[in-house]
Amino acid sequence: MSIPPNSSQSNTIDWNEMSKSFDRWLPYIQPVAEALISLADLSEGDEILDVAAGTGEPSLTIARRFGSAVRITAVDGAEAMVAVAEEKRRREGLSGITFQPMKAEALAFPSNRFDRVISRFGVMLFDDPLQGLKEMRRVMKPGGKMAIAVWSEFHRIESLHLIWESIMKRLPPEGRPPLPKMADLGPPGKLEALLKTAGFEQFEIRPFLLSYTFDDFETYWAINTESGTLREPLDRFSAEEQEAIKKETSKQVVPFFKEGKIIMQNQALLAAAIA
Ligand SMILES: C[S@@+](CC[C@H](N)C(=O)[O-])C[C@H]1O[C@@H](n2cnc3c(N)ncnc32)[C@H](O)[C@@H]1O
Repeated sequence: MSIPPNSSQSNTIDWNEMSKSFDRWLPYIQPVAEALISLADLSEGDEILDVAAGTGEPSLTIARRFGSAVRITAVDGAEAMVAVAEEKRRREGLSGITFQPMKAEALAFPSNRFDRVISRFGVMLFDDPLQGLKEMRRVMKPGGKMAIAVWSEFHRIESLHLIWESIMKRLPPEGRPPLPKMADLGPPGKLEALLKTAGFEQFEIRPFLLSYTFDDFETYWAINTESGTLREPLDRFSAEEQEAIKKETSKQVVPFFKEGKIIMQNQALLAAAIA
């Protein structure tokens, strides 16, 4: 095992690189898109902003469902993610929706422009989540609604946490990376404090449980380790050590089998706020 000098740094993800494989997650997290659409309470004529829309969600789901009854502007900080989203829009011939590269911390829109602002699994990944939320609030019309989803605490994301634990116990405490950034806003009170500091006075936060089903262990292992959060910590180990981690995980996953499939619960937090 070799511990690189930057091993205590946060294991951040290259989202341009992730654009090649991100869509494998879309079926798993679609229930969050449905929940956000319902929370956002969309009406005909709404101007909607989707921040950190990645490869297009939840914007594409909204565009397919509402057609030109709403106008959607979707932005993301990674150009390659935006390119994937734009290609889907073009292929499906969807109208009333545009995708553009843009950082959440500097939204290039006038204040009071949008009726609805949504974001699925983006805010906790911003370089500056507070500045991003302030910007999201600034561009909302007074009385406009925001609906966002972030991940809960990391140990509540069962499908990743199980493998993470196997990896961490093989690293010396001083060489362990911090918990993944995806879980930064999960600890109790963090999202609430951030929304308040960003100027939101009226909001509600509630947990949302996502059930992930994997057909077999190989599928579970591949989808969770080929890219994303676990790839960098796994890459610190030799091929033999990675095989040992995989073998150990295959034993720990046994209690999660139900009727031949692996079923794991992952917790998100949904927030609905009024500007
Ligand atoms: C987990 S993906 C979610 C994508 C999409 N919303 C979905 O749920 O399918 C997170 C996205 O946040 C984007 N992102 C991270 N930091 C950002 C920032 N500061 N401004 C805009 N987008 C950002 C990444 O480029 C990535 O596409």
